[in-house]
Amino acid sequence: MGKRLVDPSVNLFYPAPVALVTCSKDGEDPNIITIAWTGMLSSEPPTVGIAIRPGRYSHGLVSFSREFGVNFPKAEDIEKVDFCGVASGKKVNKFEKCGFTPFEGVRIRTPLIQECPVNLECIVIDAINLGSHTLFIGEMVAAHVETGLWKGETFQAMEANPLVYLPSTAQYVSLGNIIGRYSLSRGRL
Ligand SMILES: Cc1cc2nc3c(=O)[nH]c(=O)nc-3n(C[C@H](O)[C@H](O)[C@H](O)COP(=O)(O)O)c2cc1C
Repeated sequence: MGKRLVDPSVNLFYPAPVALVTCSKDGEDPNIITIAWTGMLSSEPPTVGIAIRPGRYSHGLVSFSREFGVNFPKAEDIEKVDFCGVASGKKVNKFEKCGFTPFEGVRIRTPLIQECPVNLECIVIDAINLGSHTLFIGEMVAAHVETGLWKGETFQAMEANPLVYLPSTAQYVSLGNIIGRYSLSRGRL
């Protein structure tokens, strides 16, 4: 099969997790921004990266309060997720408009989203200007996970019905079948 040499800036990195990032002015006027440019960066300490364009209202809030919440939505909340990714907190209260319930974290002043099964409280430890986006690196200082999503000590992420994004076609996807487990290849190849 041949390959096409293309401009690497055409949104080829896939799939992307979809997160609802909450941010505020030190707890006041909370806002929600949909973020797909995000990922886990290290385990110890647990750090997460989110990339936000400088023009976004949320960019100012995260820069000001140096904290943010990462909330993973369920696939069934797709319309609210999309709304938080097209409307600006400059003009609309997205918590109210989406009917999301804010709840208080234990380490940050910015509220988290009750309807999202997983909520991570993050404190900004670095912000790197990369050009079109600023990479905010947050240390995860607390995490909340719905009680019904545990089997013993293991969080059952699949049961949280995660929402995934395919940037090149701007499509939202829910996950399909589990097809294996980490280290399934051991002793086989
Ligand atoms: C699926 C999806 C993913 C997005 N990912 C990002 C992202 O990673 N970084 C970013 O700056 N904007 C991203 N956006 C765009 C912002 O969510 C959007 O501009 C939003 O309206 C900004 O809100 P604010 O003005 O309240 O900050 C995404 C939008 C959607 C729909």
